[in-house]
Amino acid sequence: MPELRPNLISTIGRDIDMFTSLAGRSAIVTGGSRGIGRGIADRLATAGVNVLVTGRHQDTLDACVAELASRPGAVSGLAADVTSPDDCARVVAMALERHGGLDIVCANAGIYPSGRLEDLTPEDIEEVMGVNVKGTFFIVQAALSALSAEGLGTGGGEGDGARGGGGGRHRTAGHKFAWRLSVAP
Ligand SMILES: NC(=O)c1ccc[n+]([C@@H]2O[C@H](COP(=O)([O-])OP(=O)(O)OC[C@H]3O[C@@H](n4cnc5c(N)ncnc54)[C@H](OP(=O)(O)O)[C@@H]3O)[C@@H](O)[C@H]2O)c1
Repeated sequence: MPELRPNLISTIGRDIDMFTSLAGRSAIVTGGSRGIGRGIADRLATAGVNVLVTGRHQDTLDACVAELASRPGAVSGLAADVTSPDDCARVVAMALERHGGLDIVCANAGIYPSGRLEDLTPEDIEEVMGVNVKGTFFIVQAALSALSAEGLGTGGGEGDGARGGGGGRHRTAGHKFAWRLSVAP
């Protein structure tokens, strides 16, 4: 039986109660410094989740953290690039240090190049794949053991990926950058 933390008790069964309070949980939101990621961080922190937001630029992170400072959940920032496995490991370590655990990973960081498809260079395409695809894998890989330690973890990326099975399995689906992950005891 894993050590129970407040608000995890009612979700320890096989089915997740989507209406269980998230207060006190620990989350990472990559690309949480602005845009959709900041909106996700805001909703989580408003629900009482302690959120670590990431992005590459410290000034944007600082502005986001200041804006969300009054939320019930603690919001902090860490400059990190999702294309770096080392940075992703640093992000997970920081979430564990600051929040004492990790329950939610939102692999939101992403880019899309401006301009016409026919004008994209191989370097442009490599950059998109590096952030949107590899970056998603890197942060999830880095977080897996921490999520498993909690006994339950679910993360979602963009789109409608396949639903992962239970029993400790995790799968990826090939729809664009979509993936779903489930780890369970
Ligand atoms: N906006 C839309 O209409 C739309 C539609 C469908 C899907 N999406 C997806 O939703 C996600 C967020 O989109 P958005 O419109 O909110 O984008 P956005 O406003 O451009 O924000 C992107 C976020 O990702 C961070 N980021 C970019 N590259 C990064 C990297 N290498 N490492 C770490 N962080 C990085 C940015 O911070 P830094 O620049 O400081 O690193 C920023 O916090 C993306 O995955 C996007 O593909 C967006």
